Amino acid sequence: MLKKIAIIVLVIFFSIQFIPVDTTNPVVDETLTLQAPQEVMTLLKKSCYDCHSNETVWPFYSQIAPVSFFVAVHVEEARSAVNFSEWKFIDKETKTKRLQRAIITVKNGMMALPSYLVGHEEAKLTKEEKKVLVTWFEDTLKEINEDSNAHIFQVR
Ligand code: HEC
Repeated sequence: MLKKIAIIVLVIFFSIQFIPVDTTNPVVDETLTLQAPQEVMTLLKKSCYDCHSNETVWPFYSQIAPVSFFVAVHVEEARSAVNFSEWKFIDKETKTKRLQRAIITVKNGMMALPSYLVGHEEAKLTKEEKKVLVTWFEDTLKEINEDSNAHIFQVR
């Protein structure tokens, strides 16, 4: 009985490996990428870019089903929420909303996703690092909303 179950589980495991999962990154268009001070870029890259950019580093286990399904869905959802590789393409209203949410989610530890931090110790933000990010989010929020002509330069 146990042996049968083990064989079935193995067969299922090998079969699902053939379900295609897209782990190719969209091409990065340098003219659309976020420009921020080096300190901020370093933090975003180490903590957010695997999900919120077109520069995702896919670890080997992210290629193995069923983990690959979850990872691919997270990355897809994260990119559609905020994609720092396409930052300049995002309109003012959306940027405002995302920055407001970024302040909250970084402060309360919802971002980066806690499940991601298990395998990515280096992505954990210290209190000081969170402060640097939150300050930059707040300043950017002010900046884009102070500039009343900003909408003219928006792509969409
Ligand atoms: C492991 C993947 C992952 C990482 C790493 C990650 N995020 Fe996210 N993020 C997501 C997913 C998935 C969503 C969309 C689903 C959701 O809202 O929970 C999201 C949503 C968001 C949103 C929109 C939330 C809303 O309610 O509108 C913001 C803002 C955000 N992330 C900021 C960040 C920041 C800042 C970092 C880095 C400090 C980060 N994320 C790191 C996966 C990730």
